[in-house]
Amino acid sequence: MIELQGLTKRYGDKTAVDHLTFTVRPGVVTGFLGPNGAGKSTTMRMVLGLDRPTSGDVRIDGKHYAQLSEPLKYIGALLDAKDAHGGRSAYNHLLCLAQSNRIPRRRVDEVLETVGLTAVARKRSKGFSLGMGQRLGIAGALLGDPEILMFDEPVNGLDPEGIHWIRNLMKGLAAQGRTVFVSSHLMSEMALTAEHLIVIGRGRLLADTSMAQFIAQNSRSFVRVRTPQVESFQDVLTAAGYRPVRADDGSFEVQDADPARLGELAAEHRLVLHELSPQRASLEEAFMRLTAESVEYHAHGAVTPGAAAPGTPPGGTPGVPGMPGAPVAAGQPPVPPVPPPGQAAPPAEPGQPPVPPGQPPQPQWGSQWRNNPRSGKRR
Ligand SMILES: Nc1ncnc2c1ncn2[C@@H]1O[C@H](COP(=O)(O)OP(=O)(O)O)[C@@H](O)[C@H]1O
Ligand SMILES: [Mg+2]
Repeated sequence: MIELQGLTKRYGDKTAVDHLTFTVRPGVVTGFLGPNGAGKSTTMRMVLGLDRPTSGDVRIDGKHYAQLSEPLKYIGALLDAKDAHGGRSAYNHLLCLAQSNRIPRRRVDEVLETVGLTAVARKRSKGFSLGMGQRLGIAGALLGDPEILMFDEPVNGLDPEGIHWIRNLMKGLAAQGRTVFVSSHLMSEMALTAEHLIVIGRGRLLADTSMAQFIAQNSRSFVRVRTPQVESFQDVLTAAGYRPVRADDGSFEVQDADPARLGELAAEHRLVLHELSPQRASLEEAFMRLTAESVEYHAHGAVTPGAAAPGTPPGGTPGVPGMPGAPVAAGQPPVPPVPPPGQAAPPAEPGQPPVPPGQPPQPQWGSQWRNNPRSGKRR
């Protein structure tokens, strides 16, 4: 179990992590989701004692990382796939880690086998591809057979086979009853992997919910209808109390409708249908809307709440009910931002200006070894 209590990190006047309070529980994969710069890596560094919190607290099974005598046996982490000494072989890298935590040598062979690096175990890691580096990092995390595992964006730069493998590995570890905490900036990835979801933006907690609940609340469902008798069908639907929206491709999108009922209506009025299909809007859209206010670095054309996403009907995005930024129906009060559990509603902040062309989109903070003199304590 990982417990954060009011965890906060400031770098000068920049607040990277802002009063985060949540618990990561065993037995499920917990996704830690947020746009780039949201504070995911900083949070994970504080879990491992690589960064000192400005205020607040984070504990691993009730203890601070520094209080764990052989920490690899409690928590294994992959924060940066390039943090192995490039001149060392994969085997020797893992052997060093194992010896520092009194882990038997045979365990090195086991984890190399698990991650599929046995064939290149004696090769120096500086020649490794990003995917091989991720596998080596994961081998290091598994070395002490810990109950808690933490992975920072583990699928970045991986090919589909590698992504599939990591996904199954994480699910398997959670199924064994372990605590698995994995960060990503991609909702689509989390939807396939995580059972529980923690969403942050600009260091603040935006959601702490089960994936099923997030999907139920945020997936807009509608029925797509295609008919050659457009106007007649529109009249029938409107008369029946529906509010059909015409999409770019000529089809209708009908919110809050039962496809069977729409089919019956068409039959009653002897209207021809070419398509009648239940649909769900993408979770990625819901995630973007949830975090739109807190995206720090925009490409040209800043993402704004409620901005039309590809594939949305003309007239705008229908919006996520109950979410900040959802368009307001006539006569209804605006939806206020939902305060995350245990926290006051964040004050509205003006959006950051887009990064001017020619400037790097985000400062690179490299590996924690370089940036943090205390990082030697990591393993
Ligand atoms: N060592 C550091 N010094 C100054 N600012 C930092 C440092 N590390 C991270 N930041 C800033 O803190 C914010 C959160 O960064 P990070 O935790 O890396 O986000 P994420 O992992 O979610 O992309 C960013 O604005 C980043 O620029
Ligand atoms: Mg990061």
